[in-house]
Amino acid sequence: MTDLLLLPGDGIGPEVTAQARRVAEAVAPDLSIAEALFGGCSFDAHGTPLTDEVLAAARSARAVLMGAVGGPQWAGAPRDRRPEAGLLNLRAGMEVYANLRPALCFPALADASSLKRHLVEGLDFMIVRELTGGIYFGSPRFIEDLPGGGRRAVDTQVYTTAEIERVARVAFQLARGRRNLVHSAEKSNVMDSGLLWRQVVTDLHAREFPDVRLEHILADNAAMQIVRDPRQFDVMVTDNLFGDILSDAAAQLTGSLGMLPSAALGDAGRPGLYEPIHGSAPDIAGQGLANPLASILSLEMAFRWSLGRPETADRILAAVVRALDNGARTRDLGGDLTTVQMGDAVLVAL
Ligand code: NAD
Ligand code: IPM
Ligand code: MN
Repeated sequence: MTDLLLLPGDGIGPEVTAQARRVAEAVAPDLSIAEALFGGCSFDAHGTPLTDEVLAAARSARAVLMGAVGGPQWAGAPRDRRPEAGLLNLRAGMEVYANLRPALCFPALADASSLKRHLVEGLDFMIVRELTGGIYFGSPRFIEDLPGGGRRAVDTQVYTTAEIERVARVAFQLARGRRNLVHSAEKSNVMDSGLLWRQVVTDLHAREFPDVRLEHILADNAAMQIVRDPRQFDVMVTDNLFGDILSDAAAQLTGSLGMLPSAALGDAGRPGLYEPIHGSAPDIAGQGLANPLASILSLEMAFRWSLGRPETADRILAAVVRALDNGARTRDLGGDLTTVQMGDAVLVAL
C-alpha cells in the first residue's frame, strides 16, 4: 500500500513538490512514496487530466500530496478535460468535502504581510471550505447561443442539509481544540442556499455544539473583516466559492500565497488530499523562484491528519519556523533563495 501519493502536476507544482519529497524522505525514510501524472501533463500524455488509474491510486493511498495544475497552454482544452476539471474530479472522487486552509503568521514574517505587523502578529486563523459541492458542481451548467444574438451562461449553486452539516461538524470539532469560536459565512440575505446554510449551521450548533461560540457573518463583510482585523477569527466555515476567495485573501496576511497549505478531508479513515492553495504560477514556472513552503506545510498536515504521525508533523513545522528565523526567504518573501535553496534551509533546520 502506498503511504503517500505525489501528484506534482504542472508549472511550479513539480518544483515545490520535489522539495516536499526531500523533506518526507528525510523525516520518514520508511514511508512508501509513489508519483503519478495529474493535470495538464496527464492531459498531454493520456488526453485526460485524471485517469481512472490515478483516481484509484489516490483513493487507495493513505494520503495524496498534489502540487498545482493548469496553465495557459491548456486554456483551450475542452472544459471537462481542463486540468482544473481534473482537480474537481479528484476532490469529488476522493470525497474530501472539508478543506482546512490555515493562515498562520510566522513571527519571522510579520513584516512580510501586506497588513501592519500589529494586525497580524500571532495570527492563527483556519478557514474550513466546503469542497465537493456548491456552484463548482451544481447542474444545470452550460453556455448557449441566444436566438436573438448573444449568449447565456448558467452555473448553479446547490447545497443539501447533509452537505452543510458534515462540513460544519468538522469546523465545530476543530474549534473545540482551538479558541472555541466558529464564524459561518454565507449570503443568506440574497441566496436561498445561504439561507439553508445558516439554518443548518444554527440547528447543528444547538444540537451538538452548544459549548462552541457561533457567529454568522455575511461573506462580503467577512472579506472586509479579514483584512481589517483578522485575529478576531478562529475557525470560519463557508461554501466552496466563498472559501476559495476568502482563503486567497487570508493567504496574503501570512506574507505570501506561497505560504498557505491545505488539507482536504473526508470521513474518518479515508485518505486526505493535501495541496498548497496556490496555483501553477505560470509567470515564475521553470525559474526556480517558487516558494516551496506551502507544499512542505501541506506535507506537514498530511503527517498530522492522515499518516498518524503528529510528532513528525511537529518536527517539520519547527524546521520551517527555524528556517524562517534564520532568514531563509524566497523572492515572494523579499529574499533571493531559489526553490531548492529554501528546501535546503528546511532540511538543515531539521
Ligand atoms: P497562482 O496561484 O498560480 O499565482 C498567483 C500569483 O502568486 C502569481 O504571481 C504567482 O507567481 C504567485 N505565486 C503562487 N504560488 C507561489 C509560490 N509558491 N511562490 C511564489 N509565488 C507564488 O494563480 P493564477 O495565476 O491565478 O493561476 C495560474 C494557474 O493555476 C491557472 O491555470 C489556475 O487555474 C491554476 N490554479 C491551480 C490551483 C491548484 O492546482 N490547486 C490553484 C489556483 C490556481
Ligand atoms: C484552489 C484553486 C482551485 C479552486 C481551481 C484551480 C479549481 O483555485 O484550489 O484554490 O478553485 O478550488
Ligand atoms: Mn483558489
